[in-house]
Amino acid sequence: MAKALEEIIVDLDKFIPPMDLGVLFGRSGPVHIEVGCGKGTFILNQAKRHPEINFLGIEWANEFYRYCADRMRRWEMANVRILRADAREFIGRFVKDSSVGAFHVYFPDPWPKRRHQKRRFFTPENIRQVWRCLVGGGQLRTATDHAEYFEIMSQVLLQEPGIAELFEPVEFYPADAADPGEWVGSNFERKYMKEGRPIYTLAVKKR
Ligand SMILES: C[S@@+](CC[C@H](N)C(=O)[O-])C[C@H]1O[C@@H](n2cnc3c(N)ncnc32)[C@H](O)[C@@H]1O
Repeated sequence: MAKALEEIIVDLDKFIPPMDLGVLFGRSGPVHIEVGCGKGTFILNQAKRHPEINFLGIEWANEFYRYCADRMRRWEMANVRILRADAREFIGRFVKDSSVGAFHVYFPDPWPKRRHQKRRFFTPENIRQVWRCLVGGGQLRTATDHAEYFEIMSQVLLQEPGIAELFEPVEFYPADAADPGEWVGSNFERKYMKEGRPIYTLAVKKR
């Protein structure tokens, strides 16, 4: 029988930060977070292939959040949850130190206009928070079609003083959710591949 939406959706009003992410799933196991999970194709397929890992999707846009939550309900899996929040605020405020096995950030909005750039996920401040929340050896994995934003991501992760030394670059292997020829198998990757756009990937692990 399909799960109730209330079992899938995380209501932040019920929690006092910092939050024990394990409580969300009612079971133990590593937790992976997807920032901006959109319609949920990656997180659902990855969670199906890794029943031993708990997957939390964070999505800001109400339309995608509702769509993804409903899909999660219908897929009837014990290891997926979603919350509607600005991932930057949620991570900074609610997530405990050394509690996340991996962050997945696929095709994040590049915010190319100067006045919008403060909304980007890949800033030194947010990446320091990601590092704080990762377990030792835990990974931050990202993919984008946007060459300029990829330069910025690489700069922040691999060259920014005070951050570059916190991470070690690792090979970006295709996710188990990906079909042959894909890197991650998310909706945006599939759309951009059809359009023939190049895809850039980067993975680092917490030292
Ligand atoms: C370009 S889409 C990519 C969606 C999905 N990751 C994929 O690859 O198909 C970017 C998504 O990130 C969400 N998003 C952007 N900024 C966010 C934030 N600060 N917190 C949570 N979600 C965010 C957007 O609403 C959008 O659904």
